[in-house]
Amino acid sequence: MNEDLDLEKLSKYSLDTWLFKQGEMVSLVIHLGHRLGLYRAMDGVGNTTAENLAKSTECHERWVLEWLRCNAAAGLIKTSDGSNFVLEPEAAAVLSQSDKPTYAAAVFANLKPIEVIDGIAEAFKTGIGLNYDGQGDGSEHAVEAMCGPMSKALLVSQVIPLLNGVEEKMRTGAKVIDVGCGTGLAIELLAKTFPASTFIGYDPSSRAISVARERFSSQENIELFDLGAESIPSSADADFVMTLDCLHDMPRPDIALKAIHGALKTDGTLLVKEIKSSSNWVDNLRNPVLALMYATSITTCLSSAMSDTDTLGLGTLGLNPELLLAMTKEAGFTSFLQHKVEDPTNLYYEISL
Ligand SMILES: C[S@@+](CC[C@H](N)C(=O)[O-])C[C@H]1O[C@@H](n2cnc3c(N)ncnc32)[C@H](O)[C@@H]1O
Repeated sequence: MNEDLDLEKLSKYSLDTWLFKQGEMVSLVIHLGHRLGLYRAMDGVGNTTAENLAKSTECHERWVLEWLRCNAAAGLIKTSDGSNFVLEPEAAAVLSQSDKPTYAAAVFANLKPIEVIDGIAEAFKTGIGLNYDGQGDGSEHAVEAMCGPMSKALLVSQVIPLLNGVEEKMRTGAKVIDVGCGTGLAIELLAKTFPASTFIGYDPSSRAISVARERFSSQENIELFDLGAESIPSSADADFVMTLDCLHDMPRPDIALKAIHGALKTDGTLLVKEIKSSSNWVDNLRNPVLALMYATSITTCLSSAMSDTDTLGLGTLGLNPELLLAMTKEAGFTSFLQHKVEDPTNLYYEISL
Protein backbone atom coordinates (compact mmCIF):
# COMPACT_ATOMS: atom_id res chain seq x y z
CA MET A 1 0.00 0.00 0.00
CA ASN A 2 1.31 3.45 -0.95
CA GLU A 3 2.32 5.21 2.33
CA ASP A 4 1.16 8.61 1.02
CA LEU A 5 -2.49 7.61 0.80
CA ASP A 6 -4.95 9.14 3.27
CA LEU A 7 -6.58 5.97 4.65
CA GLU A 8 -9.80 7.71 5.63
CA LYS A 9 -10.24 9.05 2.10
CA LEU A 10 -9.29 5.69 0.66
CA SER A 11 -11.95 3.93 2.67
CA LYS A 12 -14.55 6.56 1.73
CA TYR A 13 -13.79 6.21 -2.02
CA SER A 14 -13.89 2.47 -1.63
CA LEU A 15 -17.26 2.49 0.17
CA ASP A 16 -18.76 5.06 -2.23
CA THR A 17 -17.74 2.88 -5.17
CA TRP A 18 -19.11 -0.34 -3.65
CA LEU A 19 -22.36 1.37 -2.77
CA PHE A 20 -22.92 1.83 -6.52
CA LYS A 21 -22.33 -1.88 -7.00
CA GLN A 22 -24.82 -2.50 -4.19
CA GLY A 23 -27.29 -0.27 -6.10
CA GLU A 24 -26.78 -2.32 -9.25
CA MET A 25 -27.43 -5.60 -7.42
CA VAL A 26 -30.38 -4.32 -5.39
CA SER A 27 -31.87 -2.97 -8.66
CA LEU A 28 -32.13 -6.55 -9.85
CA VAL A 29 -33.77 -7.56 -6.57
CA ILE A 30 -36.33 -4.73 -6.96
CA HIS A 31 -37.01 -5.91 -10.51
CA LEU A 32 -37.65 -9.45 -9.23
CA GLY A 33 -40.09 -8.15 -6.62
CA HIS A 34 -41.94 -6.18 -9.29
CA ARG A 35 -41.95 -9.05 -11.77
CA LEU A 36 -43.05 -11.75 -9.32
CA GLY A 37 -45.71 -9.56 -7.67
CA LEU A 38 -44.00 -9.71 -4.27
CA TYR A 39 -44.41 -6.01 -3.43
CA ARG A 40 -48.03 -6.09 -4.62
CA ALA A 41 -48.74 -9.13 -2.43
CA MET A 42 -47.37 -7.29 0.63
CA ASP A 43 -49.26 -4.07 -0.06
CA GLY A 44 -51.90 -3.42 2.61
CA VAL A 45 -51.32 -6.76 4.33
CA GLY A 46 -49.42 -5.41 7.35
CA ASN A 47 -47.11 -7.87 8.99
CA THR A 48 -46.15 -10.91 6.89
CA THR A 49 -43.66 -13.79 6.87
CA ALA A 50 -41.71 -15.51 4.11
CA GLU A 51 -44.05 -18.50 4.47
CA ASN A 52 -47.20 -16.41 3.93
CA LEU A 53 -45.71 -14.35 1.10
CA ALA A 54 -44.44 -17.49 -0.63
CA LYS A 55 -47.95 -19.00 -0.43
CA SER A 56 -49.75 -15.94 -1.77
CA THR A 57 -47.32 -15.48 -4.69
CA GLU A 58 -46.75 -19.20 -5.41
CA CYS A 59 -43.01 -18.76 -4.91
CA HIS A 60 -40.47 -20.88 -3.03
CA GLU A 61 -40.26 -19.89 0.65
CA ARG A 62 -36.45 -19.98 0.98
CA TRP A 63 -36.02 -17.64 -1.99
CA VAL A 64 -38.70 -15.30 -0.67
CA LEU A 65 -36.97 -15.13 2.73
CA GLU A 66 -33.70 -14.08 1.11
CA TRP A 67 -35.54 -11.49 -1.00
CA LEU A 68 -37.30 -10.07 2.09
CA ARG A 69 -34.04 -9.85 4.02
CA CYS A 70 -32.30 -8.16 1.08
CA ASN A 71 -35.10 -5.57 0.90
CA ALA A 72 -34.88 -5.07 4.67
CA ALA A 73 -31.11 -4.58 4.41
CA ALA A 74 -31.76 -1.99 1.68
CA GLY A 75 -34.28 -0.20 3.92
CA LEU A 76 -37.22 -0.81 1.56
CA ILE A 77 -39.08 -3.27 3.79
CA LYS A 78 -39.30 -3.02 7.59
CA THR A 79 -38.44 -5.82 10.02
CA SER A 80 -37.18 -5.96 13.58
CA ASP A 81 -36.40 -9.68 13.76
CA GLY A 82 -35.65 -10.82 10.17
CA SER A 83 -38.76 -13.03 10.21
CA ASN A 84 -41.74 -10.65 10.27
CA PHE A 85 -41.83 -8.03 7.51
CA VAL A 86 -43.94 -4.96 6.62
CA LEU A 87 -44.19 -2.97 3.40
CA GLU A 88 -45.15 0.44 4.73
CA PRO A 89 -47.85 2.38 2.81
CA GLU A 90 -45.28 4.98 1.66
CA ALA A 91 -43.02 2.21 0.35
CA ALA A 92 -46.03 0.64 -1.38
CA ALA A 93 -46.65 3.94 -3.21
CA VAL A 94 -43.16 3.61 -4.72
CA LEU A 95 -42.85 -0.15 -5.14
CA SER A 96 -46.36 -1.56 -5.60
CA GLN A 97 -48.98 0.94 -6.77
CA SER A 98 -48.69 1.60 -10.50
CA ASP A 99 -51.33 4.37 -10.44
CA LYS A 100 -49.20 6.60 -8.15
CA PRO A 101 -46.90 9.35 -9.56
CA THR A 102 -44.21 8.02 -7.19
CA TYR A 103 -44.35 4.48 -8.66
CA ALA A 104 -40.84 3.41 -9.64
CA ALA A 105 -40.57 -0.39 -9.47
CA ALA A 106 -41.23 -0.95 -13.20
CA VAL A 107 -38.15 1.10 -14.14
CA PHE A 108 -35.81 -1.57 -12.79
CA ALA A 109 -36.71 -4.09 -15.52
CA ASN A 110 -34.41 -2.44 -18.03
CA LEU A 111 -30.96 -3.87 -17.47
CA LYS A 112 -28.91 -3.06 -20.57
CA PRO A 113 -28.06 -6.00 -22.85
CA ILE A 114 -24.35 -6.48 -23.55
CA GLU A 115 -24.62 -5.31 -27.18
CA VAL A 116 -26.02 -1.98 -25.97
CA ILE A 117 -23.17 -1.58 -23.47
CA ASP A 118 -20.72 -2.41 -26.29
CA GLY A 119 -22.41 0.21 -28.47
CA ILE A 120 -22.07 2.87 -25.78
CA ALA A 121 -18.39 2.05 -25.25
CA GLU A 122 -17.92 2.33 -29.02
CA ALA A 123 -19.66 5.74 -28.96
CA PHE A 124 -16.93 7.04 -26.64
CA LYS A 125 -14.48 6.37 -29.49
CA THR A 126 -16.54 7.38 -32.54
CA GLY A 127 -18.65 10.14 -30.96
CA ILE A 128 -21.79 8.62 -32.51
CA GLY A 129 -24.29 7.26 -29.99
CA LEU A 130 -27.21 4.83 -30.11
CA ASN A 131 -30.67 6.16 -30.90
CA TYR A 132 -33.70 4.91 -28.94
CA ASP A 133 -34.16 1.96 -31.33
CA GLY A 134 -30.59 0.91 -30.54
CA GLN A 135 -31.39 0.46 -26.84
CA GLY A 136 -32.47 -3.19 -27.14
CA ASP A 137 -35.65 -5.24 -26.91
CA GLY A 138 -38.32 -3.81 -24.65
CA SER A 139 -36.47 -0.54 -24.05
CA GLU A 140 -39.53 1.39 -25.30
CA HIS A 141 -41.51 0.04 -22.32
CA ALA A 142 -38.74 1.09 -19.94
CA VAL A 143 -39.07 4.67 -21.25
CA GLU A 144 -42.79 4.67 -20.50
CA ALA A 145 -42.11 3.17 -17.04
CA MET A 146 -39.73 6.08 -16.34
CA CYS A 147 -41.77 9.00 -17.76
CA GLY A 148 -45.31 7.61 -17.45
CA PRO A 149 -46.20 7.98 -13.75
CA MET A 150 -45.71 11.79 -13.76
CA SER A 151 -47.62 12.19 -17.04
CA LYS A 152 -50.51 10.15 -15.63
CA ALA A 153 -50.55 12.20 -12.45
CA LEU A 154 -50.09 15.69 -13.88
CA LEU A 155 -50.69 16.15 -17.61
CA VAL A 156 -54.49 16.31 -17.78
CA SER A 157 -55.27 17.45 -14.24
CA GLN A 158 -52.56 20.06 -13.68
CA VAL A 159 -50.51 20.97 -16.75
CA ILE A 160 -53.11 21.38 -19.52
CA PRO A 161 -55.34 23.69 -17.38
CA LEU A 162 -52.37 26.07 -16.97
CA LEU A 163 -52.09 26.65 -20.73
CA ASN A 164 -54.01 29.63 -22.05
CA GLY A 165 -57.13 28.42 -23.94
CA VAL A 166 -55.73 24.95 -24.75
CA GLU A 167 -58.19 22.91 -22.68
CA GLU A 168 -61.17 24.71 -24.23
CA LYS A 169 -59.84 24.21 -27.77
CA MET A 170 -59.22 20.51 -27.15
CA ARG A 171 -62.70 20.08 -25.69
CA THR A 172 -64.35 21.48 -28.83
CA GLY A 173 -61.94 19.80 -31.26
CA ALA A 174 -58.29 20.74 -31.80
CA LYS A 175 -55.43 19.43 -33.90
CA VAL A 176 -52.80 18.19 -31.47
CA ILE A 177 -49.28 16.98 -32.30
CA ASP A 178 -47.18 15.01 -29.79
CA VAL A 179 -43.55 15.27 -30.90
CA GLY A 180 -41.39 12.43 -29.56
CA CYS A 181 -44.58 10.63 -28.52
CA GLY A 182 -42.80 7.36 -27.65
CA THR A 183 -45.31 4.55 -27.01
CA GLY A 184 -48.20 7.03 -26.96
CA LEU A 185 -49.12 7.36 -23.30
CA ALA A 186 -49.68 11.14 -23.42
CA ILE A 187 -51.85 10.81 -26.54
CA GLU A 188 -53.88 8.12 -24.76
CA LEU A 189 -54.41 10.35 -21.73
CA LEU A 190 -55.47 13.34 -23.84
CA ALA A 191 -57.57 11.36 -26.34
CA LYS A 192 -59.61 9.85 -23.48
CA THR A 193 -60.29 13.29 -22.02
CA PHE A 194 -60.76 15.20 -25.28
CA PRO A 195 -62.35 12.77 -27.79
CA ALA A 196 -63.40 15.59 -30.16
CA SER A 197 -59.75 16.39 -30.94
CA THR A 198 -57.41 14.74 -33.43
CA PHE A 199 -53.95 13.59 -32.39
CA ILE A 200 -50.79 13.07 -34.42
CA GLY A 201 -47.70 11.44 -32.95
CA TYR A 202 -44.16 11.68 -34.32
CA ASP A 203 -41.25 9.60 -33.10
CA PRO A 204 -38.27 8.23 -35.05
CA SER A 205 -38.26 5.09 -32.88
CA SER A 206 -40.07 2.40 -34.86
CA ARG A 207 -40.11 0.21 -31.70
CA ALA A 208 -42.07 2.89 -29.83
CA ILE A 209 -44.36 3.72 -32.77
CA SER A 210 -45.28 0.07 -33.31
CA VAL A 211 -46.36 -0.20 -29.63
CA ALA A 212 -48.36 3.03 -30.08
CA ARG A 213 -49.96 1.70 -33.29
CA GLU A 214 -51.18 -1.40 -31.45
CA ARG A 215 -52.42 0.73 -28.59
CA PHE A 216 -54.59 2.87 -30.92
CA SER A 217 -55.43 0.30 -33.60
CA SER A 218 -59.14 1.12 -33.54
CA GLN A 219 -58.99 4.90 -33.02
CA GLU A 220 -59.61 7.01 -36.11
CA ASN A 221 -58.70 10.35 -34.56
CA ILE A 222 -55.09 9.25 -33.93
CA GLU A 223 -52.34 9.10 -36.57
CA LEU A 224 -48.74 8.05 -35.96
CA PHE A 225 -45.53 8.59 -37.92
CA ASP A 226 -42.18 6.92 -37.28
CA LEU A 227 -40.41 10.13 -38.16
CA GLY A 228 -38.39 12.69 -36.25
CA ALA A 229 -39.57 16.20 -35.42
CA GLU A 230 -37.53 17.62 -38.31
CA SER A 231 -40.02 15.97 -40.73
CA ILE A 232 -43.15 17.68 -39.41
CA PRO A 233 -44.70 19.59 -42.33
CA SER A 234 -45.12 23.39 -42.13
CA SER A 235 -48.91 23.14 -42.24
CA ALA A 236 -49.59 26.09 -39.90
CA ASP A 237 -52.78 24.35 -38.73
CA ALA A 238 -51.96 22.75 -35.35
CA ASP A 239 -53.66 24.19 -32.26
CA PHE A 240 -51.40 22.50 -29.78
CA VAL A 241 -47.98 20.82 -29.99
CA MET A 242 -46.16 19.17 -27.10
CA THR A 243 -42.64 17.86 -26.62
CA LEU A 244 -42.55 15.86 -23.40
CA ASP A 245 -39.11 15.03 -22.07
CA CYS A 246 -37.58 14.69 -25.51
CA LEU A 247 -36.05 17.90 -26.98
CA HIS A 248 -32.78 17.18 -25.15
CA ASP A 249 -32.76 13.68 -26.74
CA MET A 250 -32.90 15.06 -30.28
CA PRO A 251 -29.74 15.44 -32.32
CA ARG A 252 -31.03 18.82 -33.63
CA PRO A 253 -33.64 20.30 -31.27
CA ASP A 254 -33.09 23.67 -32.95
CA ILE A 255 -34.34 22.29 -36.28
CA ALA A 256 -37.17 20.50 -34.45
CA LEU A 257 -38.33 23.80 -32.92
CA LYS A 258 -38.32 25.49 -36.34
CA ALA A 259 -40.44 22.63 -37.74
CA ILE A 260 -42.87 22.92 -34.80
CA HIS A 261 -43.09 26.67 -35.35
CA GLY A 262 -44.10 26.01 -38.97
CA ALA A 263 -46.75 23.45 -37.93
CA LEU A 264 -48.53 25.73 -35.43
CA LYS A 265 -51.42 28.11 -36.16
CA THR A 266 -50.62 31.73 -35.34
CA ASP A 267 -52.62 31.37 -32.09
CA GLY A 268 -51.32 27.86 -31.39
CA THR A 269 -49.46 26.73 -28.27
CA LEU A 270 -46.31 24.69 -27.72
CA LEU A 271 -45.91 22.85 -24.40
CA VAL A 272 -42.33 21.84 -23.58
CA LYS A 273 -41.63 19.54 -20.64
CA GLU A 274 -37.89 19.36 -19.99
CA ILE A 275 -35.65 17.95 -17.30
CA LYS A 276 -34.99 20.47 -14.52
CA SER A 277 -31.43 21.75 -14.98
CA SER A 278 -29.48 24.94 -14.51
CA SER A 279 -26.99 26.72 -16.77
CA ASN A 280 -24.86 27.06 -13.62
CA TRP A 281 -23.52 23.52 -13.09
CA VAL A 282 -23.01 24.03 -9.36
CA ASP A 283 -26.78 24.60 -8.89
CA ASN A 284 -27.37 21.13 -10.32
CA LEU A 285 -25.52 19.65 -7.33
CA ARG A 286 -28.71 20.25 -5.30
CA ASN A 287 -30.29 17.42 -7.29
CA PRO A 288 -30.07 14.35 -4.99
CA VAL A 289 -30.05 11.98 -8.00
CA LEU A 290 -27.68 13.96 -10.20
CA ALA A 291 -25.38 10.99 -10.82
CA LEU A 292 -28.39 8.92 -11.91
CA MET A 293 -29.26 11.71 -14.36
CA TYR A 294 -25.77 11.76 -15.86
CA ALA A 295 -25.64 7.96 -16.03
CA THR A 296 -29.00 8.03 -17.85
CA SER A 297 -27.59 10.66 -20.17
CA ILE A 298 -24.58 8.55 -21.11
CA THR A 299 -26.62 5.40 -21.64
CA THR A 300 -29.71 6.98 -23.23
CA CYS A 301 -30.26 10.74 -23.67
CA LEU A 302 -26.83 11.96 -24.78
CA SER A 303 -26.51 8.75 -26.75
CA SER A 304 -29.69 9.62 -28.70
CA ALA A 305 -28.73 13.30 -28.95
CA MET A 306 -25.42 12.26 -30.55
CA SER A 307 -26.77 9.44 -32.71
CA ASP A 308 -25.93 11.38 -35.86
CA THR A 309 -23.18 13.61 -37.19
CA ASP A 310 -23.52 17.40 -36.75
CA THR A 311 -25.57 17.35 -33.52
CA LEU A 312 -26.04 19.80 -30.64
CA GLY A 313 -25.44 16.86 -28.23
CA LEU A 314 -27.48 18.25 -25.33
CA GLY A 315 -28.21 15.15 -23.19
CA THR A 316 -30.34 14.80 -20.04
CA LEU A 317 -29.30 18.03 -18.29
CA GLY A 318 -28.35 19.98 -21.41
CA LEU A 319 -31.50 22.01 -22.04
CA ASN A 320 -31.73 24.61 -19.30
CA PRO A 321 -34.32 27.45 -19.33
CA GLU A 322 -31.91 30.07 -20.76
CA LEU A 323 -30.87 27.86 -23.64
CA LEU A 324 -34.47 26.86 -24.39
CA LEU A 325 -35.50 30.54 -24.42
CA ALA A 326 -32.70 31.39 -26.86
CA MET A 327 -33.53 28.42 -29.09
CA THR A 328 -37.25 29.22 -29.21
CA LYS A 329 -36.47 32.87 -30.11
CA GLU A 330 -34.16 31.67 -32.86
CA ALA A 331 -36.96 29.42 -34.15
CA GLY A 332 -39.32 32.43 -34.37
CA PHE A 333 -41.37 32.09 -31.18
CA THR A 334 -42.03 35.35 -29.32
CA SER A 335 -43.77 34.28 -26.09
CA PHE A 336 -42.13 32.09 -23.42
CA LEU A 337 -43.64 31.30 -20.05
CA GLN A 338 -42.40 28.89 -17.38
CA HIS A 339 -45.19 27.38 -15.26
CA LYS A 340 -44.98 26.20 -11.67
CA VAL A 341 -45.88 22.50 -11.49
CA GLU A 342 -45.41 20.12 -8.55
CA ASP A 343 -42.94 17.89 -10.39
CA PRO A 344 -39.54 17.34 -8.76
CA THR A 345 -37.80 16.39 -12.00
CA ASN A 346 -39.23 18.51 -14.82
CA LEU A 347 -39.89 22.08 -15.87
CA TYR A 348 -42.93 23.08 -17.97
CA TYR A 349 -42.97 25.89 -20.56
CA GLU A 350 -45.81 27.45 -22.55
CA ILE A 351 -44.44 28.86 -25.79
CA SER A 352 -46.26 30.61 -28.61
CA LEU A 353 -45.71 32.42 -31.87
C1 LIG B 1 -37.52 10.10 -22.89
S1 LIG B 1 -38.44 9.65 -24.28
C2 LIG B 1 -39.98 10.50 -23.99
C3 LIG B 1 -41.15 9.85 -24.65
C4 LIG B 1 -42.51 10.48 -24.36
N1 LIG B 1 -42.61 11.84 -24.84
C5 LIG B 1 -42.83 10.42 -22.88
O1 LIG B 1 -42.94 11.45 -22.23
O2 LIG B 1 -42.97 9.30 -22.37
C6 LIG B 1 -37.70 10.57 -25.58
C7 LIG B 1 -38.30 10.28 -26.96
O3 LIG B 1 -37.73 11.20 -27.90
C8 LIG B 1 -37.67 10.54 -29.13
N2 LIG B 1 -36.80 11.25 -30.07
C9 LIG B 1 -35.46 11.18 -30.21
N3 LIG B 1 -35.06 11.93 -31.26
C10 LIG B 1 -36.18 12.50 -31.78
C11 LIG B 1 -36.44 13.37 -32.87
N4 LIG B 1 -35.46 13.81 -33.66
N5 LIG B 1 -37.71 13.76 -33.10
C12 LIG B 1 -38.72 13.31 -32.31
N6 LIG B 1 -38.55 12.48 -31.27
C13 LIG B 1 -37.30 12.08 -31.00
C14 LIG B 1 -37.16 9.15 -28.74
O4 LIG B 1 -37.32 8.20 -29.76
C15 LIG B 1 -37.99 8.88 -27.49
O5 LIG B 1 -39.19 8.20 -27.79
